[in-house]
Amino acid sequence: MYWLGIDVGTGGSRALLVDAKGRVQHSFVAAHEDMRMLRPLWAEQDPRDWWRASQLAIKGVLAQARVDGTVIRGIGLTGQMHGLVLLDANNEVIRPALIWCDQRSQEQVDAINAKLSPEMVVNSIANPVLTGFTLPKLLWIRDHEPQSFDSLRKILLPKDYLRFKLTGEFATDVSDASGTALFDVAHRRWSSEMINGLGLDGGLLPQTFESPEITGKVSPDAAAVTGLAPGTPVVAGAGDQAASAIGNGIVEPGAVSCTIGTSGVVFAFLEKPAYDPAGRAHTFCHAIPGAWHVMGVTQGAGLSLQWFRNRFAPGVTYDELTADATRSPAGAQGVFWLPYLMGERTPHLDANARGAWIGLTAKHQRSDLVRAILEGVCYSQKDGMEIIAGLGARPSRVRLSGGGAKSPFWHQLFADIFDMRVATLATQEGSAYGAALLATIGTGEYGSADQVCRVALQEIELKHPDQASARPYQERYKVYRSLYPALKLAFRAIGDLDA
Ligand code: XUL
Repeated sequence: MYWLGIDVGTGGSRALLVDAKGRVQHSFVAAHEDMRMLRPLWAEQDPRDWWRASQLAIKGVLAQARVDGTVIRGIGLTGQMHGLVLLDANNEVIRPALIWCDQRSQEQVDAINAKLSPEMVVNSIANPVLTGFTLPKLLWIRDHEPQSFDSLRKILLPKDYLRFKLTGEFATDVSDASGTALFDVAHRRWSSEMINGLGLDGGLLPQTFESPEITGKVSPDAAAVTGLAPGTPVVAGAGDQAASAIGNGIVEPGAVSCTIGTSGVVFAFLEKPAYDPAGRAHTFCHAIPGAWHVMGVTQGAGLSLQWFRNRFAPGVTYDELTADATRSPAGAQGVFWLPYLMGERTPHLDANARGAWIGLTAKHQRSDLVRAILEGVCYSQKDGMEIIAGLGARPSRVRLSGGGAKSPFWHQLFADIFDMRVATLATQEGSAYGAALLATIGTGEYGSADQVCRVALQEIELKHPDQASARPYQERYKVYRSLYPALKLAFRAIGDLDA
């Protein structure tokens, strides 16, 4: 018997099978088309492409395991958060989805705050409204594409579009709903204050469930195109960060993770919702019923390295790039990287922020630039860590996961710059893994996330901060912290030139 986790990521869709001990047995990824960036901070993907890739991933993983769909006891879904999928009266996609890193909606954020007041917003949804969240994207469509808005009958988050294609049901889970800016995070239900206050139709929204709850079953149509068995239960699942946290065992107070994918996220378990008064970190529902989490998000974490490689070192592997970085000394000979390629959330909440290397001299080499990128992402994640610590989660160790955890060199940099012990786990399959574990809970194989994590997870490598490096990094971190405030106005001026 297997449980299937499916992750609708940014780069691709992954399907993954776990056995009854929560061990990963097979995993298959199908790439997505590149995101469309019609303007510098705009980002769109076509939901139909996610469905195409998910079908390939499901068929691929079944073929790899040499099984048919009847061996699957349950399915858990996860995916990139915050994206806006728009469906018309025939349940057809109206236009490409505005995805999580799309930053076009500052005007709508300002309008929401002007209409409802920032205080009322935080009281309603436990967070400020940010350009990355779903609501302002929806209002951008209303303001700029009235035809699309008029034909709108349902909005869905990315993984929930897949759910609709698999089961015919419109549903989401509380962790992913938390990132819409329409969800009352403290009470785990849609926020009537936000919906009514903005004159929106609550009927546009899907029904919400706790993450392990079953939301529907695979339909005969979906079974025919995926190889799954009709009637296979599909649990609510979670946004990629909450799901990944289940896969990292962030299921009890004090547990903290750092996940470096396209974005970078520091994530801490909370027993009760606690807010950063400045709203710099997100307080969302956890994928565990009755629990919450706080997370700090670097928009361009893995993206920084990916961007560098694709643009300036095509054909070079990530291993070769990180090996290159080891040839530069700690501190990259005074170059700093600001990873704000897609604006920034934590801690700046600034859609206008831009990426930058600061401190270049004619002496610098590619190795320094790459090392500066790796260090800059660590500093940015440290910003998130400090905010989380301010909310009472005082971690003494962190679990590192995602693509960034694959490099032992970057792993050590995180330990040195965080000045904390940093562990990696045997299973590094990210959110698809967490989604599969949620399916084991929802189908009754395990009683809770805590229980399945105890059976399934194992730490493999723990790196301690090297004291000789950690101290100078604290000094460099102070310099890093001074750079954004010095550039903030210039970033805004650059944005105005583009407008
Ligand atoms: C979380 C977030 C990213 C995206 C893409 O708030 O925006 O994790 O879900 O991975």
